[in-house]
Amino acid sequence: MNQPYDQKFRTSMLEDNAGPGHNPTDNRTMGDIIARRFSRRGFLQGSLAVSAIAATVSPIAILLADDARAASASAFVFDEIEAGIDDKHHVASGYDADVLLRWGDPIFADAPEFDPLNQSAESQAKQFGYNNDYVGYIALEGSSEHGLLVVNHEYTNEHLMFPGIVKIVEGKIDVAPADQKRVDIEMAAHGGSIVEIRKDAGKWQVVRDGKLNRRITSTTEMQLTGPAAGNDRLKTNADATGTKVFGTLNNCAGGVTPWGTYIMAEENFHGYFGGELAADHPEATNYKRLGVPEGTYEWFKFYDRFDVSKEPNEPNRFGWIVEVDVNDPTSLPKKRTALGRFKHEGAESIVAADGRVVFYLGDDERFDYVYKFVTKGKFNPNDRAANLDLLDEGTLYVAKFAEDGTFAWLPLVQGEGPLTADNGFVSQADVVIETRRAGDLLGATKMDRPEDIQPNAVNGKVYVMLTNNTKRKADQVDAANPRAENAFGHIIELIEDGGDFAATKGKWEVLLKCGDPSVAEVGASFSTSTTQNGWFGMPDNCSVDSAGRLWVSTDGNSPKATGRTDGLWAVDTEGEARATSKLFFRVPVGAEMCGPLFAPDDQTAFVAVQHPGDGGEDWEGFGRPSYYEDLSTRWPDFKPDMPVRPAVVAITKQGGGKIAV
Ligand code: FEO
Ligand code: CA
Ligand code: CA
Repeated sequence: MNQPYDQKFRTSMLEDNAGPGHNPTDNRTMGDIIARRFSRRGFLQGSLAVSAIAATVSPIAILLADDARAASASAFVFDEIEAGIDDKHHVASGYDADVLLRWGDPIFADAPEFDPLNQSAESQAKQFGYNNDYVGYIALEGSSEHGLLVVNHEYTNEHLMFPGIVKIVEGKIDVAPADQKRVDIEMAAHGGSIVEIRKDAGKWQVVRDGKLNRRITSTTEMQLTGPAAGNDRLKTNADATGTKVFGTLNNCAGGVTPWGTYIMAEENFHGYFGGELAADHPEATNYKRLGVPEGTYEWFKFYDRFDVSKEPNEPNRFGWIVEVDVNDPTSLPKKRTALGRFKHEGAESIVAADGRVVFYLGDDERFDYVYKFVTKGKFNPNDRAANLDLLDEGTLYVAKFAEDGTFAWLPLVQGEGPLTADNGFVSQADVVIETRRAGDLLGATKMDRPEDIQPNAVNGKVYVMLTNNTKRKADQVDAANPRAENAFGHIIELIEDGGDFAATKGKWEVLLKCGDPSVAEVGASFSTSTTQNGWFGMPDNCSVDSAGRLWVSTDGNSPKATGRTDGLWAVDTEGEARATSKLFFRVPVGAEMCGPLFAPDDQTAFVAVQHPGDGGEDWEGFGRPSYYEDLSTRWPDFKPDMPVRPAVVAITKQGGGKIAV
């Protein structure tokens, strides 16, 4: 069932992650070439382009696909949907895709109903936040039908949230400067939500008076723990201890630990800081490596802590992994500094054979690194409390990929190799505060934007999503990043030595080079069984179901980039069908696909539809602009009463049963 969003319409400026990888030349990239291809024939103004795209596929490619499919069918038996573009979501036939939680939905008994024309920070702090990204499920009493949904709210799109702040200047969106009220709402719309949910008669419901329901925002008090806690570089005028910080920023993907806590990864925190730091300031090198301050948000105009000229250490208090004990809504979330400070994408974990717990960590920037953290202590499945500080001690590693298909995890430990006082690393605190520079000195492999990384308990492998890197030049190609101007990304599969997730070396393979396999210059490597609907670009989040099968969601497919919206694809990883991909669900125009997450019984897939309607241009073909405004004079059918709303969607099989058997 396809549901319209009761929505109408900021470009993901922080998602571009140009940073230190930014290449100032204006050479034409593969991305430009492909973009032109799709803009010419992929998107027909005012109508759906599906048939137009289908018509561009070479007949030979279709024949090959059909022949190969007969020989090695995908293990996924659902009927693939058509890739395309419209303002609705679509799921495979035989499944329901029901909106469960939208931005603004009240999540406490005393929370006000969403009123987009009368927003306030107080209301927003009691309602579901904006731009849902990571989705986790923590079972209550072991149930697959009653649990806590934990959801990150990564960032805000003001032009999509607030009416009356957009002007069109020379065909582009111009957003009015923020006032304090707007900034306070933005801060309340960030962070995360913990919401009790229950399945009644096959349909998921929000338990609005759930005792464990909680909103975490950019002002929630938190504690810094681990090797950097209390370090001078974390002290500010407001906090002489260097341990107490307010809020979390840009929580992208995340994780749920084996002991049932919720992990929020702080990704593009640089955008929240403004002002100027003196070039000879002791933190200047540190901040330059991270792009701080970037100043996309205007919070620093109202709150001095976000102005680096006034509070120069505040940015050192962000860029961490945050752990939340969901069993106690009054608990202080903990920023676990042992896991390093960078643009943390996510933190999926698995218990190694010896009981230590391994967290896989991506640093999402062009030419940045893949990390993992191995706890010192062991997981105790019979004593939850004994696990609660496991994340304060352990070893952080950065990955180095060799041309011969092997890799090594290099320990980021103060005193070892170049990580000494001579290089500015006086203690482990310095190593974790400047994790990227430590990785630089160790010679880690510069990757094509590492996003979500997923260990797979069933087959012992680990999947690394590398979303794209159009700045990689031909002389920067290596075996693990095999394409110059990598517009569409790729997926790498890791096999840890001896199947031990805590190993310090292993073997790797490229599972998939993404993009349209019918365009030879793209160099995609989907199996020939993959249809024209089945290929995708820009892998971002991923999940494995309990059968160990891989599901990939994307960020960046669009009319211009690939002639299709983002979505959720099921990807075969084993046997003859390896690298076959099938489209299961797709999002409305302008949205990115986040989540995904399977309930423990595999009977529900939760997906997060982020920034639907966005795009920085008018979606005139769908009778709506890419911002929130009363434009009924331009689009007579336009409904000004409700903005486009990011949402978590629950996908179930009609009549019950596992999503994919
Ligand atoms: Fe927030 Fe790297 O995606
Ligand atoms: Ca992401
Ligand atoms: Ca994931």
